[in-house]
Amino acid sequence: MIKEGELVLLYTEEGRSYLVEVGERPFQTHKDHFDLKKLIGKPFGSTLVGQKGNKVYALKPTIYDFLMKLKRVTQIIYPKDIGYILLRLNVGPGKTVLECGTGSGSLLLAFAFAVGPEGRVITYEKEPRFQKVAQENLTRFGLAERVIFKGEARDHFEEQEEVDAVFLDLKTPWELIEAAWRALKGGCPLGVLLPTANQVSETLKVLARYPFVGTQVLEIMLRFYKTNPERFRPEDRMIGHTAYLLFTRKIKGESHDGE
Ligand SMILES: C[S@@+](CC[C@H](N)C(=O)[O-])C[C@H]1O[C@@H](n2cnc3c(N)ncnc32)[C@H](O)[C@@H]1O
Repeated sequence: MIKEGELVLLYTEEGRSYLVEVGERPFQTHKDHFDLKKLIGKPFGSTLVGQKGNKVYALKPTIYDFLMKLKRVTQIIYPKDIGYILLRLNVGPGKTVLECGTGSGSLLLAFAFAVGPEGRVITYEKEPRFQKVAQENLTRFGLAERVIFKGEARDHFEEQEEVDAVFLDLKTPWELIEAAWRALKGGCPLGVLLPTANQVSETLKVLARYPFVGTQVLEIMLRFYKTNPERFRPEDRMIGHTAYLLFTRKIKGESHDGE
């Protein structure tokens, strides 16, 4: 049942969606005026009728909805890339994940959701104003307690061989490859997001100097389709490029018998 103060995704008859908190404040579109208090005690999926007879549907927000609706003050990582990042970094309940480049907290939100109440996400951000927005986004979705915020990472992270995965999303990630290697537990994955090909080349050059194996670079393309069953076909427009993704795994270097 929907409670007062709960977040609800309102879906209009025209297919627009709005993430709103159920409370005193009414909800208004250009067409109608809706009294959200009428949703209290109703199940998700209920229909709310406005003063002029228009309808909105009260949906349970998913983590995807949260990501699409969060407050943005920087470039963010989108769900198409985040889903794959979570799998490649093996982010799940109880894990400790380190990211550098909190930004608006888009990837951070997904990490915090995936690690569960027993897990931790350590996130480095040099700009206090971005940290503040990311913190607000996490608080809005009830995930702030799983996250530890830290400031600028210059050439190292405070964590040493203690995290299950590292992700770098900043302009010059190659400056933190050694730091990532030191922070990771042996055998664990590093992921890097790189908008341009030059950044990929620079990162690959530096990566070659450290004990990592299984390096892959890839890009994810996503195409939406029109859902008219009589004229089923792709949408006319498509996002051509967001970023390249690089994944690799830490090894500990050679060890010899008796050492
Ligand atoms: C593209 S944004 C990250 C977006 C974020 N991953 C998201 O999904 O919302 C890159 C961020 O890295 C931060 N940054 C750059 N260099 C940094 C450093 N050395 N230490 C900490 N943060 C850094 C920038 O201030 C910026 O907010």
